[in-house]
Amino acid sequence: MLDQLQLGVCYYPEHWPESIWEDDLARMKACGIRTVRVGEFAWALFEPEEGRFDFSLFDRFLALAEAQGMRVIMGTPTATPPIWLTEKYPEVLNARVDGVPYRHGLRRHYNYNSEKYRELCARIVRQMGDHFGRHPAVVGWQIDNELNCETNEFYSEADHRAFRAYMRERFKTLENLNDKMGGVVWSQIYTDWSQLHLRRPTIHDQYNPHLLLEEKRFFSESAVRFCRMQCEILRPRIGDAFITTNGIFDNLDYERLIGGDLDFLCYDSYPNFALDMYQEPAKQDKYPDRKWSRNLSLTRAHSSSFGIMEQQAGANGWTGRMESPMPRPGQMRLWTMQSVAHGANFISYFRWRNAPCGTEIYWHGLNDYDNLENRRLAELRQVRDDFKKLAEAAQAPYRARVAYVLDYDNEWDAACDRWHGRAHRHSMDGMFRAAQDLHEPMDFLYLNEETTVADLSKYALLIYPHAAILEDSVADKLEAYARGGGQLMFCARTGYKDRWGRCPMRPMGFRAAELCGIRISDYTFVGPHDEPGAAVMDGEALDMPLFNDILDVTRDDARMEATYSANYYAGKPAVVSRAVGAGRIWYYGAALSEASGAAMLKKLGFGEPCGNLLELPDSCELAARGDYLFVLNYARTEAAIRVKVPMPELLSGETMSGERKLPPFGVMVFHSSK
Ligand code: GAL
Repeated sequence: MLDQLQLGVCYYPEHWPESIWEDDLARMKACGIRTVRVGEFAWALFEPEEGRFDFSLFDRFLALAEAQGMRVIMGTPTATPPIWLTEKYPEVLNARVDGVPYRHGLRRHYNYNSEKYRELCARIVRQMGDHFGRHPAVVGWQIDNELNCETNEFYSEADHRAFRAYMRERFKTLENLNDKMGGVVWSQIYTDWSQLHLRRPTIHDQYNPHLLLEEKRFFSESAVRFCRMQCEILRPRIGDAFITTNGIFDNLDYERLIGGDLDFLCYDSYPNFALDMYQEPAKQDKYPDRKWSRNLSLTRAHSSSFGIMEQQAGANGWTGRMESPMPRPGQMRLWTMQSVAHGANFISYFRWRNAPCGTEIYWHGLNDYDNLENRRLAELRQVRDDFKKLAEAAQAPYRARVAYVLDYDNEWDAACDRWHGRAHRHSMDGMFRAAQDLHEPMDFLYLNEETTVADLSKYALLIYPHAAILEDSVADKLEAYARGGGQLMFCARTGYKDRWGRCPMRPMGFRAAELCGIRISDYTFVGPHDEPGAAVMDGEALDMPLFNDILDVTRDDARMEATYSANYYAGKPAVVSRAVGAGRIWYYGAALSEASGAAMLKKLGFGEPCGNLLELPDSCELAARGDYLFVLNYARTEAAIRVKVPMPELLSGETMSGERKLPPFGVMVFHSSK
């Protein structure tokens, strides 16, 4: 499925008269679309009443699709339990934190843990697998729709019960539970398992932080198990068809979700989500849609080959929530190429036509309500033609020498803990922008138990900014990576928590501090009455924003790289590095900003990896798939680029050199080794 560039579309045969299906399919084909996703919300049609199944509408659609040689991805419809189901079995509903259930009328109103819901889901999935599993047109399956979208928190009675069982399994004894969850503080000692709950309403909406972290792990595990249950039912029934799911959402460990159950992940890419419609123009991000490159990189981190199940094809919005403008001419193509540049080979647009009714009448598809020719269709045909020229480029994987390291323990701790969270968000945004400014393609790398030193050693530089939770076993792998010649950078707030989120009595920085030869002798947020955090490195000012770890050098072989130049700790070490084996480990004592991220990248010898071939302005992103260099212009104006060495450009078919102009939202793809 992902071995070559392909176009697809999301289609809802149940939304339109049957008389136009055939014409729709023929027009899709003419636009280059070969694959159609259907069915993911159609439970009320598949099972109109409990235990009575009717697949006739989709049988007729599949027959037409097969006749036209179209391929179909079938969605399991478990994101939208029908009303007969939720009325008869209200325990399947999800609930707010105060226990009030969410009712019928939208979608994803269910919980993952109700035994009844799991039983009814298993039955509809089994029925669909038996019915459609061997259909020649069905090439793949999508599990549910966007697990953990809409809400990623679950507080039904079934969830509280399952949480209790999960915690009992994990901690075995109440004594152990009370120890790990810090029960000694504020009389939170449990004396019976039945007392244990997921979060419930509390003063200030605050809750035991260690239990909160466990809650996130539990939510994730619930979704993983729900997905696995469906995969296990489908696998024996669907032959060679693939299984995927779509989107990336919080409280879900995608490393675990994919592991063994899914063939690959698909992302739903709506770059206009990055636009803040309510922000005054002066404060708007210059190229908001470029932020989506970060999400595509996150997807690639979990699934080295991936697809886009929903690629934005028009303006976004629900009737009562969210709104965004129509993509400007060329922007839909740019966003498609953004996905391709980041490694996606299957691009399926959301949706074929605007919804005729319902919450999403403004979530625009390729066709308008009237079904007449429009500029989005013309742009799609251009993409169809472009794809033919990119066939070879799409064989190569995304290429980066720098990786930004993440892990779910820290991501979730950052989501529960404001101190950690501020630093986490600040650095992720700062470093992403810095890498973009320096045209340095960057991967994200999620550490998990199976990560090997060889996985790490694919990169020349790892940036692991705020691993508040830093277990010694992880530090060992990182040390081995550095010994083998890699460069590794830690930032402020590294290494002061254990995996339960407690702060053990141990010098801060843990192994990171030992490896760098430092002691973190003091630390502080940069407060509103302080001078902005700053240091001097190589005679130049270095931004040290948000939080400052004040360092002491404790080993002779550690090198002081920068000194604080502001506040009561001026003159103290701000950045220290130490050679470890053939590599070097750095400690940068603040959160990363765009400016400091760029300064550190340059200091460590990175930035402009293709500077000998191309000179690009800051409106352009550079992404590399093997030797193919994608240049994407996010500006509404022309971008002047300089091609320093003559190179074939695939979309125009020309060999280019010298000054060239990229049109607004334009794309060029150079073959650098020819
Ligand atoms: C996605 C979802 C689609 C559709 C789209 C537009 O999150 O998977 O079903 O709702 O957004 O809102």
